[in-house]
Amino acid sequence: MTKEPLFLCMGSACHQLGVYEVLPRLQALMREHQLEDSVTLKGSFCLEICSNGITMKFRDQHFMNISPQNLDEIFVREILPAIQTVCSC
Ligand code: FES
Repeated sequence: MTKEPLFLCMGSACHQLGVYEVLPRLQALMREHQLEDSVTLKGSFCLEICSNGITMKFRDQHFMNISPQNLDEIFVREILPAIQTVCSC
């Protein structure tokens, strides 16, 4: 099965906002929700919406204003449903 990429912006603005704090928690959330067989987490160059906080992308959908503090909430409310609509996980 081909894994769908879930992109986490590693550009300089997102870096300054703490993307390296987000990364380990994001990896843990993916494990907790058993997404590792269907989704692969990839670092991305700047997603070109730098004024919107740390940004992620899945297919054509962007998830913005992510921070280490709100990642869990955004993951469950926005990212997980987006992934679940395209894969049977
Ligand atoms: S650095 Fe992340 S969107 Fe530009």
